[in-house]
Amino acid sequence: MTKKYDIAVLPGDGTGPEVVDEGLKVLEAAAAKFGFQMDFTTFNIGGDHYLATGEILPDDIIEQLTKRDAIFLGAIGHPDVKPGILEKGILLNLRFALDQYINLRPVKLYEGVATPLKDKTPADIDFVVVRENSEGLYAGAGGTLKKGTPDEVAIQESINTRKGVERCIRYAFEYCRKRNKAKKLTLCGKTNVLTYAFDLWERAFNEVAKEYPDIETDYAHVDAICMWMVKNPEWFDVIVTDNMFGDIITDLGAMIQGGMGIAAGGNINPEGVSMFEPIGGSAPKYTGMGIINPIAAISSAQLLLETIGESKAALAIEAAVKKTLRDDIKDMGAGKMGHSTSEVGDIVANYVKGGTGE
Ligand code: IPM
Ligand code: MN
Repeated sequence: MTKKYDIAVLPGDGTGPEVVDEGLKVLEAAAAKFGFQMDFTTFNIGGDHYLATGEILPDDIIEQLTKRDAIFLGAIGHPDVKPGILEKGILLNLRFALDQYINLRPVKLYEGVATPLKDKTPADIDFVVVRENSEGLYAGAGGTLKKGTPDEVAIQESINTRKGVERCIRYAFEYCRKRNKAKKLTLCGKTNVLTYAFDLWERAFNEVAKEYPDIETDYAHVDAICMWMVKNPEWFDVIVTDNMFGDIITDLGAMIQGGMGIAAGGNINPEGVSMFEPIGGSAPKYTGMGIINPIAAISSAQLLLETIGESKAALAIEAAVKKTLRDDIKDMGAGKMGHSTSEVGDIVANYVKGGTGE
């Protein structure tokens, strides 16, 4: 019997729907080629829906999402909605509600893609950031006192639980072993200043490391890692870090791999429903122009297939993306690709169908 997957699609805001269309096109090509079926159900949540109805993320949608095999998300963020409402109300709410405690962000430079790092090649830039995705400064702990007065106090606390930290670190060790490249895991923290939070991280890291004698371990402060990511990206294989630092260093990672147009990510619950998204945001100023780069969304679709266990199909998408980047796209920026958004989707999908990727 043909294997069938139920995929929830959240096109979201701005250019989200345009890049999601191309991701779906490529997923369909991969399903046809590799003999499985994908059923897509679209949920229209995001800025426009909120402005029209006042509804952000109804519980019954969360409930329906928990029953899918995976979620494919475009982008959340609308210029007419105050910052924070949609990001916290939809994106973070979903990550937390579905306990997607890992944010997996590969940083990989493909041939034919320009990096701002002088003299670095695809051999030098190929690592993965495992970002904790359910705690830290993102947990929302804190509050304000005397708001709007000269005595105003604002407190934003970083929550780090032994359980939350340990499950993330364990995932990173497992991932590093499975990836089977340099077999090196770097903890990124700030043990010299954040002496409570990263003391917990460091102890958990060193204890879990004993179970993985085949993995080399390393530590770097977050500020130093920003420096090394630029100067010696070849030192990294897998990096594990907390939510806030992971957010920051993966934007840097996206730039050294060629830009937001190609940076993919997965919000992963290894025991539950995971959600895949291009990490670049909704880029509202390009909405409807058909010029945004869909590769980040397509590579997110690849991560989706990898995570649900369709690894051959995932590899075929990566091969097709590689060939497209090498032979067909001139520049990664919006409007500079030499093709429209949907043409790029067609090119990748055709390579997947024809098996001509390499
Ligand atoms: C990301 C984004 C989100 C984050 C925002 C939109 C809440 O920047 O996915 O990295 O900070 O996690
Ligand atoms: Mn971010």
